[in-house]
Amino acid sequence: MKRTLLLVLCTLLALPALADEGMWLPSLIQSRIKEMRAKGFRLSAEDIYSINKASMKDAVVSFGGFCTGELISDRGLVLTNHHCGYNAIQALSSVDHDYLTYGFWAMSPAEELPAEGLFVRFLVRMEEVTDRIAAGETPDEIIARATAEGKGYRASIEQMYYGNQQFLFVYRQYDDVRLVGTPPSSIGKFGGDTDNWIWPRHTGDFSLFRIYAGADNEPAAYAPDNVPYRPRHHFPIDVSGIEEGDFTMIYGFPGSTQQYILADAVDYIQKCSDPVKIAIRTARLDLMGAAQQSDPALRIFYAARHAIIANPWKKWQGEVLGLERLRTAERKRAYEQAFEAWAADKPAYRTVVADMKQEYQRIIPIFFNLEVLSETLGTLPMPYPTAEREDPLFEARRPTERALWQLALNEYAELCRGERQLSAVREGIARWGSPDAYADHLFTLAADDPQQAELAELKQAIRTDIDTLRNQLGLKVVRNLHSARLNDLYAVYLRGLQEWDRERAFFPDANSTLRVAYGSVAGYEYADGEYHKPLTTLDGIIAKDDPTIYDYDIPQRLRDLYASKEYGRWGTWIDGRYTVPVCFLATNQTTGGNSGSPVLNGRGELIGLNFDRTWRSTMSDLEFDPTICRNIAVDIRYVLFVIDRVGGAGYLLDEMTLRK
Ligand code: ARG
Ligand code: GLU
Repeated sequence: MKRTLLLVLCTLLALPALADEGMWLPSLIQSRIKEMRAKGFRLSAEDIYSINKASMKDAVVSFGGFCTGELISDRGLVLTNHHCGYNAIQALSSVDHDYLTYGFWAMSPAEELPAEGLFVRFLVRMEEVTDRIAAGETPDEIIARATAEGKGYRASIEQMYYGNQQFLFVYRQYDDVRLVGTPPSSIGKFGGDTDNWIWPRHTGDFSLFRIYAGADNEPAAYAPDNVPYRPRHHFPIDVSGIEEGDFTMIYGFPGSTQQYILADAVDYIQKCSDPVKIAIRTARLDLMGAAQQSDPALRIFYAARHAIIANPWKKWQGEVLGLERLRTAERKRAYEQAFEAWAADKPAYRTVVADMKQEYQRIIPIFFNLEVLSETLGTLPMPYPTAEREDPLFEARRPTERALWQLALNEYAELCRGERQLSAVREGIARWGSPDAYADHLFTLAADDPQQAELAELKQAIRTDIDTLRNQLGLKVVRNLHSARLNDLYAVYLRGLQEWDRERAFFPDANSTLRVAYGSVAGYEYADGEYHKPLTTLDGIIAKDDPTIYDYDIPQRLRDLYASKEYGRWGTWIDGRYTVPVCFLATNQTTGGNSGSPVLNGRGELIGLNFDRTWRSTMSDLEFDPTICRNIAVDIRYVLFVIDRVGGAGYLLDEMTLRK
């Protein structure tokens, strides 16, 4: 009894990589294969990543640099999320061809629409270059040599474990990407911001593109006679259906996590950064929401902006709740103390935690300043683009825009005081009498007198301020609470942790490089006695359907199909109902950037398309809790059902490899 109790206490104190936690480097996946196979994976490490033969990595792309996509035919057909294709779909739309509202289906290759500026990137290979750099080769030399290897090649060197390991990533980029099909937003964005980050979910969040290449299959700029790209590998599609407990693997480009940060940094995020940003965005969203309520034209105009602001806003709220519930900061503090006790007689590590804490003291005000700038003054158009000013709608927007300027100036003046406040702003407020009056003045310049030097000067002052703050952190790009000095200290800390905490399976933080996550289809206990099942169906869409609520107004075609039950081959019996599967949950660790990632079964076949996490999982970028963290995927059968039965583009299925 006593020993079990002790064991339980120990596991509570340590923070091991528990089952299903992790985002692993594909080239090193061999170290996880045993565990993956125990969970139902049937293939080998070589099948996931190989530089000698075709492997799964050849069917995964970075989609536009911010999402993931996957090849699902030998003719370059790419599947990704609707919200990943959104900008391209919007740019291709016009009043006469409103693809966001009505969807779009190319009925032949000739009808596919070139998406200007959109690119996809394949990983050619990755390789550790820590030793080469230590031996004196510069990163620039290594990158230049790799880039010269082939047409369309790009390369970058990324740090793992804060630079303890450096990896070269070589990519091949294709720039001729065309829109093949998309459901209407009422399917692709069903549930809108209301259901965003929420389970149960019923969003058909997918769109289809095709990669085109030169006749030699190499990257080529857009040309009408380019041909469909022939990939080394494409994912077969498993249409036999999934069940709770089935193995799942996600292969994609997660953006950024901070798994190893100290409790002090968690405290900053939970108690300062998130709450402040949430409050500012709440006020902005309220202003936009009021405008949207007042005028249908403004509802449409502000829709995209509203969604972009609301997505992280909603995530941060879940994150704060999750960190509170897990008591992440408290437990990390205990973990750090245990580490320090171990390190007390080890000169290399003795002071590292204390040094980091001290550095946090120095940089928190600097980073906070940067965050406030970007959430306030950084959101203001200086000046408004000509097209916007000349748009007839601009008159109707004026009161809202003016109020947004006032809000930004007030929040900035409130949160950024004394020495840190821009002198231009301090003087402006003094001259005009209040932040409101100064904001009015600036708004008038930005809207009506865009050439005004005062505006250009303010913009320049903001830029200079940002540069100064970045210099104080010693960083060129500032993503999270971090500094150059902290980076060096974390490298030492991570080495120490790896020596000390032998049981923990360490994996490098996400940094937009290709990763593998594995887990299984699983529901979760949402609250005491409330279990959330892992699968949703068309019946749930019909239950939410309401033509008077924008987010829940489904296409008539879907209602008709439900009424007639003409589901074709996609109809299934689930819990005694004849229906169509829609979304499912799994235990894979994912983050922003994993949108559009393939969800694969144990045989490497596509079963779904990742697009979100649940509300209770949103703290997983800082601490992953396997009992509650779930990623949300759209079931591949719903994707095919929509293409086939709703879109009437079933011909596209002929080029896919469907497996029963
Ligand atoms: N929450 C998902 C992500 O982080 C989906 C966002 C797009 N959907 C939306 N309703 N805004 O990107
Ligand atoms: N929707 C996110 C994206 O666009 C993925 C969801 C997440 O953050 O887990 O990448």
